[in-house]
Amino acid sequence: MKYFFLAYAIIAALFIGLMPMRGGKSPDAPIRLFPDMDEQDKLKPQKPDAFFSDGQGARQPVHGTQALGFNAEGASVIGGIPEPEFGGGTGYYATGGIDGYYANGMPEELGLTAENVGAFLKRGEEVFNVNCAICHGKSADGLGMTSHYGVPGIANLTQDTYGQAAYPDGRLFSVISDGKGNMGAYKHNVNLRDRWAIIAYIRALQFARKAPYDLVKDAYDKATASAAAAPAAH
Ligand code: HEC
Repeated sequence: MKYFFLAYAIIAALFIGLMPMRGGKSPDAPIRLFPDMDEQDKLKPQKPDAFFSDGQGARQPVHGTQALGFNAEGASVIGGIPEPEFGGGTGYYATGGIDGYYANGMPEELGLTAENVGAFLKRGEEVFNVNCAICHGKSADGLGMTSHYGVPGIANLTQDTYGQAAYPDGRLFSVISDGKGNMGAYKHNVNLRDRWAIIAYIRALQFARKAPYDLVKDAYDKATASAAAAPAAH
């Protein structure tokens, strides 16, 4: 019994003696049995960081950075396009629907004419290649780069099921804007006009798949003739 009390007293003394050290500061790293993700090579907001010469972890935006929807002066425009161009409006141009149904055709807000439609399609090609080709492929056949790395079920947009008769322009607009299944929404990145340009370009790609032989041959002959006529590069 004597020894029990002795042991008890020693343990109690140790325990009480060590307790105050719990809140003590130590320069040593704590012992972590399960480190999880406590320590990461990253900058924490509002924290100092010795990596940079000014000792600040928080960095200024890179010189010339332009926030989406703002021009260099901070006004709410992109190259003259007002911010609502990304959505929020009503009507066919902003929703792809008329009276609750998807409709076909290019909205008149685009102001398309015989003169500017070429540039519009060219813009569509550019925006499609930036935003869509990575998955759907440059020819919209669904075999883009990500399909080789395991993204499943990417739609082949050259199929008849996505043709204008079965799949109206407005429905394309809606999928680009809000996404579907594994495909994300593009309404925050691609403004309304560019979305319609993508739709026009997809229609052109679909048409190119089925273009009559004479038309293709004609275009091919013209292209090869002008390539032959062009002066050599050096
Ligand atoms: C990250 C890969 C990815 C990107 C980028 C992408 N898509 Fe998709 N898209 C998919 C996948 C996956 C599906 C199939 C979605 C489903 O049916 O679940 C799909 C489906 C579609 C469909 C058919 C939807 C339906 O009703 O079956 C259309 C149209 C489409 N995409 C257009 C586009 C356009 C236009 C762009 C560019 C603005 C784009 N996609 C960008 C992956 C992508």
